[in-house]
Amino acid sequence: MKRFSAVVALVMFAGVGVFAQGKVDEGKAAYALHKCSTCHAIGGAGGKLASSLDGVGTKLKVADIKKWLEDPAAMEAKLDKKPKMAMSAAASFKTKKITPAEIDAMTAYLATLK
Ligand code: HEC
Repeated sequence: MKRFSAVVALVMFAGVGVFAQGKVDEGKAAYALHKCSTCHAIGGAGGKLASSLDGVGTKLKVADIKKWLEDPAAMEAKLDKKPKMAMSAAASFKTKKITPAEIDAMTAYLATLK
């Protein structure tokens, strides 16, 4: 019985891992779909209008990454130096239709950038 539970636990653990990887891949796809790279670079690829997202998974808490995607205007308001309207994520997000599922997936993806 003990061995059985260990196997069950192992399978569940592996399952969660696969699920999490799927989410990260979805996040990568959503990041491309919504053209986040117009302003942000990852690994040197992308725009320079906003900060590079390299290491953002270390810099920001997961909750804050999510907040940047849910309510960029509120997050931008907290910056010492406000971005110009032309490079404001808040202004740009209004024209994109980002779903809550995409926000979750992109958060999972960005959190892996350490
Ligand atoms: C029109 C330009 C623009 C686009 C497009 C854009 N952002 Fe941003 N983003 C900004 C600006 C400006 C900031 C705040 C200042 C900074 O970090 O450079 C910011 C900040 C962030 C931050 C916080 C970064 C940090 O280091 O604190 C994250 C995370 C982020 N954006 C993710 C995204 C994602 C994901 C997308 C695509 C859905 C996206 N952004 C699209 C301009 C943009």
